[in-house]
Amino acid sequence: MIMLQVGIIGAGRIGKLHASHIQQMSNIRVRAISDVYTEGLNEWASAHGIPVVTNDYQDILHDPDIQAVFICSPTSTHADIIREAAEAGKHIFCEKPVSFSIETTEQALAAVKKSGVKMQVGFNRRFDHNYKKAHDVVQSGSIGAPHLLRITSRDPEPPSAEYIAKSGGLFIDMTIHDFDMARYVMQSEVVEVYAQGANLVDPKIGELNDIDTAIVSLRFANGALGIIENSRKAVYGYDQRLEAFGSDGCVSTQNDRPSTAVVATANGVHMDKPLHFFIERYTQAYIQEVQDFVRAIMHDGPVVCDANDGLQAERIALAAKESLRTGLPVKIAH
Ligand SMILES: NC(=O)c1ccc[n+]([C@@H]2O[C@H](COP(=O)([O-])OP(=O)(O)OC[C@H]3O[C@@H](n4cnc5c(N)ncnc54)[C@H](O)[C@@H]3O)[C@@H](O)[C@H]2O)c1
Repeated sequence: MIMLQVGIIGAGRIGKLHASHIQQMSNIRVRAISDVYTEGLNEWASAHGIPVVTNDYQDILHDPDIQAVFICSPTSTHADIIREAAEAGKHIFCEKPVSFSIETTEQALAAVKKSGVKMQVGFNRRFDHNYKKAHDVVQSGSIGAPHLLRITSRDPEPPSAEYIAKSGGLFIDMTIHDFDMARYVMQSEVVEVYAQGANLVDPKIGELNDIDTAIVSLRFANGALGIIENSRKAVYGYDQRLEAFGSDGCVSTQNDRPSTAVVATANGVHMDKPLHFFIERYTQAYIQEVQDFVRAIMHDGPVVCDANDGLQAERIALAAKESLRTGLPVKIAH
């Protein structure tokens, strides 16, 4: 297979982002894109060299020329589409999270296992140049035994109320990336979670019974401890940093900025704000995760974040939700 042909299901923010990246690549092409709302999509698809537009993703699943699907529709639709795609023999790239419940995710993953197709979950941050380096440093043993992890993850602005209402809440929608990052960098499962949350950014988020500010403490199976802190609104841009500390040292990552220029004047010392949001900050990671998926299919190798990674991050997110509800730490069995 020289060129992988794929279908994109869901032409919203992330679906169009993947489609436009893929159309710049030499070993993968978008053959079809589907959305329940196709107004303006024909023009967009034609400008991006995508020949087929449909309002029914079944057309993609039944297209014999398509080998893989990118599931980029809302989270509530993922599990059914995963099951159907697996039964149709299509490899699957599914955006995070797989679903809102462990049982639903496990059922979808059973269908993937039965069919033997590959499935990658869209934890793009694993492919980010900074975070991958932090992972590699911990894996190399150069900071010794990992003891502490600190993840700062703050968005520049909250999504729309409509998005929040269907998102499943902060932990399953946003912190899920950080839960995956915690497992990835520390290379150990999370066995206990204690979460605190607040509604400080926008009262509308509170009215939707969600939080926009959180601190989550983690205990890992290897004995290490971690802390994740989130906000839906950092006025200075997308704040994405981490630090892993161990018996022999420490590795930390900083935000990416449009330039590294530091301007010093009588008024102070200034530098660019961090890159604005995920689309700007993680461009390289989104491209790399797609290339890794192509590699796994073409060379029949493993994917970097598989279905089990999706499941484990969800288990942590749901434990955090439970901890927030009860005010108590929640253990996660392995
Ligand atoms: N990895 C990341 O960085 C990242 C970033 C943003 C969103 N996401 C995830 O991607 C998914 C989509 O998020 P988004 O921000 O792009 O949402 P969005 O609302 O912008 O886009 C979703 C699109 O799917 C369409 N849709 C709904 N039902 C459909 C169906 N049955 N068939 C085809 N299309 C359908 C909607 O009309 C909409 O256009 C969510 O699961 C979200 O958590 C991941």
